[in-house]
Amino acid sequence: MTPATELSKTVCILAIETTCDETSAALIECPWPVVASLDGPLPVPKCLSNVVTSQIELHGPFGGVVPEIASRAHLTAILPVIRQALDAANLDYPDIDAVAIATKPGLVGALVVGLTVAKTLAMVLNKPLLTYDHMEAHLYAAQLADPSSEIFPCLGLIVSGGHTTLLDCQTALDTTWLGGTLDDAVGEAFDKVATLLGLGYPGGPVIQRAAESGDPKAFDFPRPFSQDSRLVFSYSGLKTAVLRAFQANQTRADDPLQRPQLIADLAASFQAAAVESIVIKTRQALKQTGHKRLVVGGGVAANRLLRTSLQEMCDRQKVTLFTPPMWLCTDNAAMGAVAYLKLIRGDLATLDCDVVAGLMRPDKGR
Ligand code: KG4
Ligand code: ZN
Repeated sequence: MTPATELSKTVCILAIETTCDETSAALIECPWPVVASLDGPLPVPKCLSNVVTSQIELHGPFGGVVPEIASRAHLTAILPVIRQALDAANLDYPDIDAVAIATKPGLVGALVVGLTVAKTLAMVLNKPLLTYDHMEAHLYAAQLADPSSEIFPCLGLIVSGGHTTLLDCQTALDTTWLGGTLDDAVGEAFDKVATLLGLGYPGGPVIQRAAESGDPKAFDFPRPFSQDSRLVFSYSGLKTAVLRAFQANQTRADDPLQRPQLIADLAASFQAAAVESIVIKTRQALKQTGHKRLVVGGGVAANRLLRTSLQEMCDRQKVTLFTPPMWLCTDNAAMGAVAYLKLIRGDLATLDCDVVAGLMRPDKGR
C-alpha cells in the first residue's frame, strides 16, 4: 500500500505503547501528504488525545515491575484505553489511517500484547502498520513538545526505569548507540533505594520529595567511571552504598525522632550522586560528538535536580537543552508520533514482524 495515494490532507495515527508498565494509546493528527525538501524540516504532528493507565498499584508491593503481572495487566487494559483515546479525540475506529506500535526495547510479554493488538487492528481496518523504537520515541517527545524548534541532529539521553542510554541522533530515526549502563538503569536505582528507605514506589518522585529536606553532602556516595573516558554508567554499586550507609546508621533509623532526617539525607545524597553521574557522562558525550543540542527523555527526566544540573552544564557548554514536559517524559503513546516519520519514508511494517526485547546493548536491540 502506498500511503501517499490513499490518504489526504491529514492522516490519523493510532499509537499504542505497552513496553513496560504503562498501557497507553494516543491519536496523532499528521499533515499529509508531506511536501518538504529532503533536508528541510519535516512537519510535526499534533497529539489529539493521549490516555495512559499505570500499573503502579500492582507492582508497588514488589518494589519494581513484575513482567508477568505487566503482560496480564496490558491485556485487560489495552482495549478500554484505546476506546478512551478515541472518545477523547472525538474519533472512532474507521477514522484511524495507520496503527503504530513500539516493538523495542522492553519486556517481551508486554511488547507482544501491544503488537498483537496493533497487528489485529491494522488487519481488520486494512490500514498500514508502523513499528517504532521506544527510545527514539522518548526523544521525539521533545520535538512534539516544541514543534517550532529543530532539535535534530542532537545528543540523546534516555533516563528511565529500564534505560540509561546515550544516543547519537542524526535524525529522529537515524540513531547510533554511544553508551549506557553496565548494570542497573538509573530509574531502577531510584525505585530500589526508595523501597529500601521505606518511601514507596515508584521511587523517583518520593526520593525527590524526601531529598528536599536532606543534605546532599551528608553521605559521600560513588560517581563510578567519572575519570574514565568510556561512556558507561553503573548504578548497582550506588544502591549497595546506600544500603551500607543505612545499615551503619541503624540506631538513628530505629529512633523515630532521628529517622526522618536520616532518610532525607540518604535520599538527597543518593540523588546527588545519581544525577552527577549522568551529568558527567553527558558532558563527555557532548564533547566527543560535538553536538550542540541535547535532548533528554524518559521518566527520570522529570527529576528537578537533573533538569537544573543539565541546564547549568549546557549553559556552560553553549549547548541547547530540550526536555519535554512531565507528561511526555514518562511512558506514553503520544511520543509514538515518531512513527509518522516512518509513514513519510514509506517504511511500513509487515504482519509477520516481531518484538525485540532487551534493554541497553545495540546488538541486543538496546
Ligand atoms: O520512562 P518511564 O515512565 O518508564 C520506563 O521506560 O522505565 O520511567 C519510569 C522511571 C521510574 O523508575 C521512576 O522512578 C522514574 O522514572 N521517575 C523519576 C522521577 N519521576 C519518575 N526519577 C527521578 N525523579 C523523578 N521525579
Ligand atoms: Zn520508557
